Amino acid sequence: MNNKLQCIVTDGQGIDNLALTEKPETAALSDNDVLVEVKAVSLNYRDLLVAKGLYGGSYEPPIIACSDMSGTVLDVGSKVTGLKPGDNVINSPFRSWLSGKMNSQKIRTFVGGLGVDGVLIEKLVYPASALVKMPEHMSFEEGSTLTIAGLTAWAAVMTHGKVQPGEWVLVHGTGGVSIFGAQIAKEAGAKVILTTSSEQKAKLVKERLGIKHIVDYRNEDWPKQVRDITDGAGVDVVVEIAGGETLARSIKACNYSARIGIIGILDDTYSKFKLFDVITKQISLRGMFMESTKELNALARFCEKNQLQPRIDKLFPFEQTIDAYKYLESQKHIGKVVISLQ
Ligand SMILES: NC(=O)c1ccc[n+]([C@@H]2O[C@H](COP(=O)([O-])OP(=O)(O)OC[C@H]3O[C@@H](n4cnc5c(N)ncnc54)[C@H](OP(=O)(O)O)[C@@H]3O)[C@@H](O)[C@H]2O)c1
Repeated sequence: MNNKLQCIVTDGQGIDNLALTEKPETAALSDNDVLVEVKAVSLNYRDLLVAKGLYGGSYEPPIIACSDMSGTVLDVGSKVTGLKPGDNVINSPFRSWLSGKMNSQKIRTFVGGLGVDGVLIEKLVYPASALVKMPEHMSFEEGSTLTIAGLTAWAAVMTHGKVQPGEWVLVHGTGGVSIFGAQIAKEAGAKVILTTSSEQKAKLVKERLGIKHIVDYRNEDWPKQVRDITDGAGVDVVVEIAGGETLARSIKACNYSARIGIIGILDDTYSKFKLFDVITKQISLRGMFMESTKELNALARFCEKNQLQPRIDKLFPFEQTIDAYKYLESQKHIGKVVISLQ
């Protein structure tokens, strides 16, 4: 087989260096692998870091970009049992984190960065064990958003946040992870408070996602506003994508026994907060690095059961991948930015 596959590669030297190129199609499928026709790829903040050289520096040779895809199974290896040609699937961000704890081997299989090829290619070979059936009610574009954004929000709210009906969940900003966090929390019967720096986004989030409680994180006093909304109690779960001073303030907005999922550092890498508050309120802080394939499957089935519809802000064709990256960088979006290969 000498077919060539079109793909987008990054050398880590800037978004404008993202380049369309061709790779040879894999000759033979290994026993436990699956060949997928990629239909949609969603972008994450990490893809901007990779393209700009802020996630492992520059790459020579360039790597295939992006980490999240949905597609249709074209062929399966001889030992694959759970999938067949025609099935629609989404990928786990790690090729070999099936379940349980992360370790130093599994972490190196995170696709789309640190020298590991990603998924922005017409056809992709992936281990069957790292693929999950796409929720039946979702379009390919929607399905592609579950891999990182959906899974990380799921990890923070459900897997580790263990949110209970009636509890309060705080999400920061209107990006991919946070909007998923809000949607998952609502479906789990929790009440959501969202922070944003944009009045226009606040209005849209209220209208389109039915989130009633919104505060502006640029106002230093927002933790008091959050406590007031919760009748003085504070929130039970935090989807912390900002770190820095925002994390310090999130702690002030917490209830007793709160669970904070530390996900991102959009505010700052370092954070200074009063340990006394963490101790007396018995707050759990846990770093999140997405989750395993098992948890991705749990998320997919949860979405199916609750007919959860991911929030796509804008769709770009494959040929306009650079525009898609620049749109994500502009932070004009609410939810996800997706590239279609169909
Ligand atoms: N650890 C993990 O497993 C994991 C997984 C996914 C993402 N992440 C990290 O999580 C972060 C968010 O990722 P994403 O893909 O959801 O990004 P995204 O879609 O680009 O969302 C960015 C949004 O965050 C909000 N924001 C920016 N600075 C903020 C601040 N100082 N305080 C509060 N909110 C702020 C803004 O919302 P407004 O415009 O509404 O103000 C912005 O639109 C990134 O740092 C990313 O690297 C980590």
